[in-house]
Amino acid sequence: MASGVAHELNQPLSVIRMGATFLSKMINKGRKIKDEELRTVTEQIVGQVDRASAIINHMRDFARVGIKTTDLDVNLPIKNIIGIFGQQFKVRDIAIELDLDDNLPHIMADSNKLEQVLLNLVVNARHVIEEKGEPGGKVTIRSFSDKGRVAVSVSDTGNGIPDHILDKIFEPFFTTKKVGAGTGLGLSISYGIVKDYGGTIDVKTEVGIGTTFVLKFPPCSNAK
Ligand SMILES: Nc1ncnc2c1ncn2[C@@H]1O[C@H](COP(=O)(O)OP(=O)(O)OP(=O)(O)O)[C@@H](O)[C@H]1O
Ligand SMILES: [Mg+2]
Repeated sequence: MASGVAHELNQPLSVIRMGATFLSKMINKGRKIKDEELRTVTEQIVGQVDRASAIINHMRDFARVGIKTTDLDVNLPIKNIIGIFGQQFKVRDIAIELDLDDNLPHIMADSNKLEQVLLNLVVNARHVIEEKGEPGGKVTIRSFSDKGRVAVSVSDTGNGIPDHILDKIFEPFFTTKKVGAGTGLGLSISYGIVKDYGGTIDVKTEVGIGTTFVLKFPPCSNAK
């Protein structure tokens, strides 16, 4: 998680640095900067500062403690994480497809907590797609209704999960990542959060083809 945020912050910072370095070089050489150039560079700097602030504000919300539950449209946390982390996928040439049902009943959950769960799933998906290293990698996020429950699925085109580790992936500290690369806590924390809201997590996987994690939640009692 923390490394994902650091990465996401480094991008706007390096654009800001490039812009500022360009301006200071021009000034030091006593060269005139064209109005058009000055406008482009300053607009870029302002835009990237806004992006960095949005990421930081979001992280502050993320860290808020305690279980909060509100009447929540499950599409909201999905759109939020794609808005903030979608860029990480674009730069890696991984497609993200959203297929969201806009007429789902609300659930009782906290948007920030669900974002944490979805982010864990999406970061895992990105990792396995990169590991596979084939072009055409894709993550698909769907929301749909399933037998009266509200479902969200995250599918990837990675290498799937072999049978002998499938029943271990939700255990705390179980990881197949290199030492230092993963804590093995992502799925176990996600499982705990989903349980807090009366939900379930299921996995469908096919070795060589990909994996789908499906979350299902009860609709809130006053739902239509
Ligand atoms: N989409 C996926 N495809 C294939 N294997 C997966 C997928 N998601 C999880 N796994 C397997 O489950 C293990 C545990 O995942 P989990 O998210 O709990 O920890 P991690 O990703 O290894 O570490 P961290 O989440 O701290 O970065 C992973 O190491 C990987 O072996
Ligand atoms: Mg993980």
